[in-house]
Amino acid sequence: MPETESPTTPGQNRGFGVDVGGSGVKGGIVDLDTGKLIGDRYKLLTPQPSTPEAVAETVAEVVRHFDWTGPLGVTYPGVVVNGVVQTAANVDKGWIGTSASEVIGAALGGQHVVVLNDADAAGIAEQRHGAGRNRDGVIVLLTFGTGIGSAVIHGGQLLPNTEFGHLEVGGKEAEHRAASSVKERKDWSYERWSEEVTKVLVTIENAIWPDLFIAGGGISRKADKWIPLLKNRTPVVAAELQNEAGIVGAAMAAQADVTR
Ligand code: BGC
Repeated sequence: MPETESPTTPGQNRGFGVDVGGSGVKGGIVDLDTGKLIGDRYKLLTPQPSTPEAVAETVAEVVRHFDWTGPLGVTYPGVVVNGVVQTAANVDKGWIGTSASEVIGAALGGQHVVVLNDADAAGIAEQRHGAGRNRDGVIVLLTFGTGIGSAVIHGGQLLPNTEFGHLEVGGKEAEHRAASSVKERKDWSYERWSEEVTKVLVTIENAIWPDLFIAGGGISRKADKWIPLLKNRTPVVAAELQNEAGIVGAAMAAQADVTR
């Protein structure tokens, strides 16, 4: 078979991911061999209120924009077990108990959909294609945004639905202490905010002793301003895939269901 027809030709092993966030729903076609987007991503605003039906329709619009009919992965900002949503810290509470995979699948005429936690998606993408590639041991990815999301990966395997953002740290939930939304709301400097982030990292590292933290979320774009200020013991590196990590991880999850 000529090289160009090989199934491993870059760009042939494609998937599709959609990342559902509090403000935007974005998706794109992913080259699963390289973890890069093929072409542009497409973004729509998250409907408000962010009910399951409204969000499912928006996800479907993003998918139809690309005429995609293959394997589909979608992220959700809360705990998802077997496609069913269990928590809704920063989205409409109507999600709790909803089968996200069924509601989104129905909006797409019965298409099979794998739904997973947003930070878990970012974690598997960063581990395979970003800041965690070629790193052994236990990796903890944290996303700093409206809340704090977490992913734990060991030997390439995801431990799904860790919720370190809701750990109690000094009498307060970690994400109420150190999400990047807290920095904005309180108009804190990076110095002040990094003290809170340090407390959260120390609580996590004392519990599970990871080998590496990967810091993700929008604020990781300014990583040089705050990662050097952290005082915990485990090395912290910035995420590399930035706002594409969720899309890439969702596409990976649809190819090989990592949520179980
Ligand atoms: C949710 C997590 C989610 C994170 C980031 C938290 O409030 O509980 O499941 O990963 O926010 O969206």
